[in-house]
Amino acid sequence: MVENLMDKIVSLCKRRGFIFQGSEIYGGLANTWDYGPYGVELKNNLKKAWWKANVQERNDILGMDCAILMHPKVWEASGHVHNFFDLKSDCKNCKKRFKSADLKDPTKCPECSGQLTEARPFNLMFKTYQGPVEETGNEIHLRPETAQGMFVNFLNILDARHPKLPFGLAQIGKSFRNEITPGNFTFRTREFEQMEIEYFVNPQDADQALSEWIQSRFNWYLNLGIKSENLRKRQHGKDELAHYAHACMDIEYRFPFFATNHGESAENRGGGWAELEGVANRSDFDLKQHAQYSGKDLQYFDDLKKEKFYPYIIEPSGGVDRAVLAFLIDAYQEEKVKDDTRVVLKLNKELAPVKVAILPLLRNRPEIVELAKNISRDLKKSWMAVYDDTGSIGKLYRRQDEVGTLYCVTVDVQTLEDKQVTVRSRDTMLQERINIEGLKSYLIEKLT
Ligand code: GAP
Repeated sequence: MVENLMDKIVSLCKRRGFIFQGSEIYGGLANTWDYGPYGVELKNNLKKAWWKANVQERNDILGMDCAILMHPKVWEASGHVHNFFDLKSDCKNCKKRFKSADLKDPTKCPECSGQLTEARPFNLMFKTYQGPVEETGNEIHLRPETAQGMFVNFLNILDARHPKLPFGLAQIGKSFRNEITPGNFTFRTREFEQMEIEYFVNPQDADQALSEWIQSRFNWYLNLGIKSENLRKRQHGKDELAHYAHACMDIEYRFPFFATNHGESAENRGGGWAELEGVANRSDFDLKQHAQYSGKDLQYFDDLKKEKFYPYIIEPSGGVDRAVLAFLIDAYQEEKVKDDTRVVLKLNKELAPVKVAILPLLRNRPEIVELAKNISRDLKKSWMAVYDDTGSIGKLYRRQDEVGTLYCVTVDVQTLEDKQVTVRSRDTMLQERINIEGLKSYLIEKLT
């Protein structure tokens, strides 16, 4: 049943143009995914909502967009060269590779029961070469997290903007990890987007800031519509903490695919719960490391107390693709309507890819089509709106429900006489007659 749910979501994503298999016409490149027309709208809306809550609406956070390629010393200083490993074992028989943390029996292949090699460390950073010569001196890594770009710009930000503690930097961007076991659709991939905040605080305020950020990030998911029964917080045990972290709380979502997996793995701690976002206290590790490796003074000067110190960093770090997946799963509903089943994505109004669809009731009546196109042209100035005349009205409604469109505006014969359209709500399926003149104000009220 649950596997069935994921099959349905993956199929809807392809059928309606949310997410496609990457390089599909060549047989696909495993675990790569391309966002289609509705997928990119949903993803952009999610990023906009994050930016609005964490940058636009706050006085203490500044946005950034840093390079993916960084100086090789960054990854030595950050600890990624020495610590960013997963232990892996290879099957001597079927040659498949497994993450040791996911294995029930570290000696036996879970696929063919063949013998596994000893667990060996495997660095997760993607390596490439800068410039035309492929030699060791030109080796460079694709960033495995966006965080480091913000740490190495700490001085630039102090010089350019003179922020006072506490303040934060925020960034959304691609990260790359050569994961041993990617999978579960877009949950774990090798190329993904992160949305990260690095919040610099006086060390004595770190605990308080950590709990405030945990609550703020938890509420963000709830406010955007994730059902409370599918969201929880989970404290990291000492053995799980990353090399830089003093403390970390995961915000977890109940993903259906983990609920059907047997056994516990790094991602599956029972009942389907898995990490959506981590909120960590990174202490002063990062600034101290970069100060040491770069030779620059990365301390903060408190001009009231006339003292210098390394701030602590509180880091809420979420995955864009993983959040998109959680919102899709959470919004998916099947409803019985008379003898039929209506599939509807009940996405929150901020996230829904399309806010309004304009549908002419009769596509062979040029006056109706023209009027509908005019209305669509006008609404598109304010919202993501679509015009669709490629089916019967019943089919068009179902299609819009499946992609989560909030309102459908129908132009019919009567509209030509009374200048009114029918507006149908996705959630209630109730219909209202609205004057064309007042349509925009009606939608502003509903959508704002
Ligand atoms: N800077 C801290 C950091 O990167 P992380 O827990 O490794 O922490 C943060 O990653 C978030 O990035 C995760 O909670 C998850 O949402 C997302 N993420 C990490 N690896 C991912 C992957 N391979 N595929 C998709 N999302 C991933």
